Parts: sequence; C-alpha cells; structure tokens
Amino acid sequence: MTATKFTPRVFSGIKPSGGLTLGNYLGAIKRWVDMQGPSFETVYCVVDLHAITVWQDPKDLRDGTREVAAGMLASGIDPEKSILFNQSQVPEHAELAWIFNCVARVGWMNRMTQFKDKAGSGKDAEKASLGLYAYPSLMAADILLYHATHVPVGEDQKQHVELTRDIAAKFNHDFGVDFFPLATPVIEGPGMRVMNLRDGSKKMSKSGESDMERINMTDDADTISKKFKKAKTDPEPLPETVEGLSSRPEAKNLVDIYAALSNMTAEQVIAQYPGAGWGTFKPALADLAVDKLAPISTEMKRLMADKAEIDRLLARGAERAREIATPILRQTYDIVGLLRS
Ligand code: TYM
Repeated sequence: MTATKFTPRVFSGIKPSGGLTLGNYLGAIKRWVDMQGPSFETVYCVVDLHAITVWQDPKDLRDGTREVAAGMLASGIDPEKSILFNQSQVPEHAELAWIFNCVARVGWMNRMTQFKDKAGSGKDAEKASLGLYAYPSLMAADILLYHATHVPVGEDQKQHVELTRDIAAKFNHDFGVDFFPLATPVIEGPGMRVMNLRDGSKKMSKSGESDMERINMTDDADTISKKFKKAKTDPEPLPETVEGLSSRPEAKNLVDIYAALSNMTAEQVIAQYPGAGWGTFKPALADLAVDKLAPISTEMKRLMADKAEIDRLLARGAERAREIATPILRQTYDIVGLLRS
C-alpha cells in the first residue's frame, strides 16, 4: 500500500521533560520549520503524555510544556501555518493508543532499544512504568490519528516510526481495510544525530550527567561559547576531505553541527576550513551558534513572560487538531466494532 490516497501531512512531537537541547533543535524543530508551506499540512505536538512515562513534578511539567511550546514558536513554528498543541488536550491520542496496544505484539515492544536504554535491565527494568513500555504504541497513535504521511525526527526515533508502520499494516490487514497510511520517517541532513560534546559516541540528550555535554536552548551567549570551546576533540586538525572524519566522532560532530546550523553540507564546511586547527574552527563554530541560537533564546524568554498567551495558542491548536482527529478515531471505532449509539 502506498500513502498516495492520503493528504500529505506531517506530524511530529517533542517531550516536555527537562528543556530543549541543540539536538532537539537541529534534529527536529529546525526541520519542522522548513517543512511548513504549501507541500504539507503540518501538525506539531508537545507530547506531555509521553513525558509522564517517567516521573514528572506536576508544576515542572506544566512549565516545561509551555517552555517547549515557546521554543517551537521562537524557532519559527507559525501557529497560523501549523497546528501546535499539547497532546493531553486531545484525548483521542490516548484512546487510539489503547486500540494500538491491542494491535501491537509484546515481542515488538521487547525489541525497542530505547525502552531497554531507559529502563535498564534486570530488577531495574521491572521498576519501569507500564507506560514506558507501551510508549511506542502511543507514539503510533500520535502519528496515525492524523493519518500523517511524513514524520520528521532525529535518528534515535527511527525504530519507533518503523514500529508505527508495522502497527498500521497489521491494523489494515487484521480488519481488511486500507485505513492507516504507512508513514515515512524523514531523517535527513547533518543534524539528525547530534552527539554529546564530551563523548562523541553518545547522543546529546537532556538527561546527560554534565551540563557541559549539551547546549540548552536557554543557554546564554557566553555559556554557548564556553561549551563549544571546551568541547572534546582529538588533537588532529580538520581533514582536507569529509572522508577523513569517519573515525573521528568528536570532530565529525562539530563539523555536522556547523553544517546543520549554517544550512551547509559537511563537505562544504570542510571545503571552507580544510586543515584548520581547533583554535580556528571552535571559535568560528561558537560564533555561528551564538548568532543562530541567541535570538531564539531571547524570544523564548519574551514568550514565557506571557503564559496565558501560550496557553491560549495551545488550546486553539488543540481545537484544530481535534477537527482532524475526532473523525479518524470515530472511523477507527467503527472498523473495530466498538458500538457508538
Ligand atoms: P524527544 O522528545 O526525545 O526528542 C524530540 C525530537 O528531537 C530529536 N532529537 C535529536 N535529534 C538529533 N540529535 C539529538 N541528539 C537529538 N535528541 C533528540 C528526536 O529524534 C525527536 O525527533 N518519542 C519522541 C516524541 C514523540 C514523537 C511522536 C515524535 C512522541 N510522539 C510522534 C514523532 C512523532 C521523543 O521522545 O522525542
């Protein structure tokens, strides 16, 4: 089955736990901004129901939800062009997730690497919430509730989007329908896997131990500069060609970040700085990052000063989201045989 009978529609989401990082920006939000326009309807969500799969302080969760929304708005998500809302204001997500819990197989969930990473193993895994285990079927519901055809995510989410395709295919097959599209993961460009600044073998994440490992979207100019200048590298200068980065994860990461921030390819960055030492490249990267990120963090602060306005925008987004979601959920219930009087 192809996705051609479906309206080209983008869905993607971000968890409001622990603030936004440069990884979220380059791997997701910046690319979401670029997808706004005539080719797609775009639906972007602050996935608060996903956040509570691990403990969240209620006040921090509310503020974190607003902060992520502010980060999206400040980065250029336009609430007129896109539907922007928080997940819990559209209860259909949780309802469709239940149906998908009954479609997905335990064996599929057992293969999810992110659950294994987050839950640990042995006794630790037994203490993980049931929600964390079922998380990928809620994610499938997020996407399929809108019949989304394209899902722009960072590389770490690839397995979840593939599982979404498996759930859609099994649902269609079990009920003999052609109802849910097989959504395409859109994972491209140099920002799809931003690595930790202290260890190039690990992903940059909000939960890493040291703040020096990551750039937060709320960091000020001095902090951004300091973090890039102190980023771990090897002692070699930049290579003359991009192939020379292949076994140098930290160097590759900094080149990729430069490329993603400046809308260039890694090849173009290397062509601009062939053989450059870190004393040249790191300050150039720090300046570029400050140039691109400081206006976003300033705008985030401005938006966060008016929480009522953010809440109003999210409520309006949720109403628009439900206009798409409600009929799709109703049809799903009918297909499954759930009686609606
Ligand atoms: P989350 O909140 O962990 O991350 C949000 C988005 O940011 C991307 N990302 C990165 N990209 C590149 N390099 C990094 N270091 C990096 N860190 C994070 C993620 O790939 C993601 O695109 N399960 C999802 C949220 C979700 C979702 C969805 C996404 C829920 N429902 C439906 C798409 C469609 C998550 O935890 O993302």
